[in-house]
Amino acid sequence: MIIRQEESKDYESVYHLIQHAFQTAEHADGNEQDLVVNLRNSDSFIPELSLVAVKDDTIVGHILFTKAFVGDVEVLALAPLSVLPAYQGQGIGTLLMKEGHKIAKILGYTYSVVLGDPSYYERAGYTTASIYVIKPPFEIEDAYFMALCFSNEAKLIDGIMKYDDAFGLS
Ligand SMILES: CC(C)(COP(=O)(O)OP(=O)(O)OC[C@H]1O[C@@H](n2cnc3c(N)ncnc32)[C@H](O)[C@@H]1OP(=O)(O)O)[C@@H](O)C(=O)NCCC(=O)NCCS
Repeated sequence: MIIRQEESKDYESVYHLIQHAFQTAEHADGNEQDLVVNLRNSDSFIPELSLVAVKDDTIVGHILFTKAFVGDVEVLALAPLSVLPAYQGQGIGTLLMKEGHKIAKILGYTYSVVLGDPSYYERAGYTTASIYVIKPPFEIEDAYFMALCFSNEAKLIDGIMKYDDAFGLS
């Protein structure tokens, strides 16, 4: 399996992959594929952090990290993460996260923030964002709003997470 940066020729496959993956997801709003289209066209898009997993000559997974802010600190928002149902449970989602984190670190980012199930994201190192005093811009149980810090020397960044407008949160 190969993990590589998404290219424009992949956009259509990625759109259908996200749609398919979220059809059976426990938490979905049904427009994750359109969110990705909008984020690609936004200032928050980081081409190096839109990754695809390719297996059997097919795109089977996708992950996107976009720019977000906590106060004046630029952080990453991980969303969405999608793996085709037939390929789930093989470690592809975890590999996409880990590869993304490696690139994020090289690009100089210190934090990645995700909203999701702690039992899943903990395996990639995420922990409750409240320990870094990163607060969600919506009401959510503490455990579901998580962050990963790539540096041992990062300072706490007390503030509310500001996502790209494409997320429709502000
Ligand atoms: C979540 C998702 C990306 C995981 O991808 P994956 O490639 O199957 O993940 P991995 O193989 O790395 O890990 C699989 C493990 O995670 C667990 N897992 C998967 N989704 C989970 C969830 N929502 N909550 C808790 N655990 C979950 C599986 O049960 C499996 O556990 P096991 O290793 O103990 O058997 C994939 O299931 C998916 O695309 N789901 C639909 C879209 C979605 O919900 N995305 C996340 C929100 S943005």
